[in-house]
Amino acid sequence: MALEFKVRSLGGDLKRFVGLITDREHAIKKAPEKDVDPVFAINENAKLLHPDYQKMVIQDIIEHKGADSKTFVFKKADGSKAAYFRAGQYVSVLLKIGSSLVTRPYSICSSPAEALEGIVKITVRNVKDGYAAPYMLENFKVGDEVCISGPEGTFYYEPLRDAGHVIALAGGSGITPFLSMANAIREGTEDFCLTILFGSRTEENILFKKELDEIASQCSKVKVVHVLSDEKKDGCETGFINADLIRKYAPEGGYSIFMCGPEAMYRFAQKEIEKLQIEPRFVRRELLGVTKNVASLPDYPAECAGKTYTVKVVIGEQEQVIDGKAEETILTAIERAGIPAPARCRSGECGWCRSKLVSGTVYIPAENDTGRRYVDKERGYIHPCASFPTSDVVIEVPGSYMQ
Ligand code: FES
Repeated sequence: MALEFKVRSLGGDLKRFVGLITDREHAIKKAPEKDVDPVFAINENAKLLHPDYQKMVIQDIIEHKGADSKTFVFKKADGSKAAYFRAGQYVSVLLKIGSSLVTRPYSICSSPAEALEGIVKITVRNVKDGYAAPYMLENFKVGDEVCISGPEGTFYYEPLRDAGHVIALAGGSGITPFLSMANAIREGTEDFCLTILFGSRTEENILFKKELDEIASQCSKVKVVHVLSDEKKDGCETGFINADLIRKYAPEGGYSIFMCGPEAMYRFAQKEIEKLQIEPRFVRRELLGVTKNVASLPDYPAECAGKTYTVKVVIGEQEQVIDGKAEETILTAIERAGIPAPARCRSGECGWCRSKLVSGTVYIPAENDTGRRYVDKERGYIHPCASFPTSDVVIEVPGSYMQ
C-alpha cells in the first residue's frame, strides 16, 4: 500500500517565525527600563518544596509503651504548610546535646496529606547505648522548638521503576515509611498494592498495630502480616521473614521488595531474597546507616583499630584540630567537637556532607561508598559520615545550613 505524506508549505512557517521576532522586539521596546525583579516564581516554589530546614514545634507526643518508642508530632512553627513529600522519605532532625551539634535521619510516619496542614510525624525507638534517640525520648516535650530538614531520600514508590505490587519487609521502627505509604494509598495519593510483612518479637511489641490493621481493613490494596519471632499467636506468622514467607504472600507475576529495619534484618533478608532470584532493580532498601563495628569488616586495616588521630577541620577561614577515633566516622568526631557540619542520611548516600580530603587517608566501607560520584573519588572528595580516619587528616568541610 502506498503511503501518502502531506508537506506543509515552508513559507508559512517562515512567516510565523518572522512574526515572532517582530512581536518580541515590540515587547522589548515597551518594557520598563527598571531592573527585572530577580525573584522568580519557580525558585520560590522550589524553596517551598525543598527547604533547607523547617522550624517546627512539638505539638503532641504519643507513647508506644510495648515498643519502647514515642511518636513526635511536629507542627510548622509559623502555621504554614510543611514541605510536601513522597511517602517513604525522611527528615533529618538537628539536635544540640551538650556542646555537640548532631543530626539524625528519621522516616516520616505521617501521610503526605498531613504536610499540607503543617504536620510531620516521626517515631523514635529507644536504642540501647544510643546517643540521640535516648536524648530525644527523655528531653523532648510539647511546645519545644525543633529544626528539621526538608524531605530527603528516594525510598518511595516510583511506577516507572517499581512493580505494581510491593512486598514490604519491615522490622521494628522500620515500619514507619510503610505506615506513611499505607496511609497515602488509602488517601489516594499513591496507587500501588502493598503487602507488609512486619517482624516483631511479640504481639505487645508491634508498633502501630491498631493503625495498620485499621488501614488494611479499609483499603483492599494494603495487606499487613504480623510475623512474631518470640511467641505464637492466632492470626500471626511465627519465626522470621524468610524466602518461604515472601513466596507465600507474593502475588502471581512480578513484584518489588522494599526493606526497612535494623542492620541485622538487612543482612538476614538479603540472603533470603537471593533465593528468590529477583532482578536487583526490584529490590530496594532504606538507608543502611554505617556499621557500628567497623573493625570487624574483612578489609578494615587491622593496624588502625583502637588508635586516635588528629583531624584538622577547615570551614572557610576557620580551622580547628580535633581528635578522631579510628573506629568512629569523621562526621561523629566533628559533631562531638561542636562544629556545625552538614549531614542528612549518615549512610554515605545523599552527598550532603561531601568534603575535600586535603591530606591523610581514610577507610570507607564498600557498602557505604555507593553514593560517592566517580569524579569525587578521583578528586579526593569523601563523605565524612561514612569515612573513618586511618592517619592524621586535614579536611575541608562546607558550613552547616542548620546552625
Ligand atoms: S550525610 Fe549523606 S552522604 Fe553524608
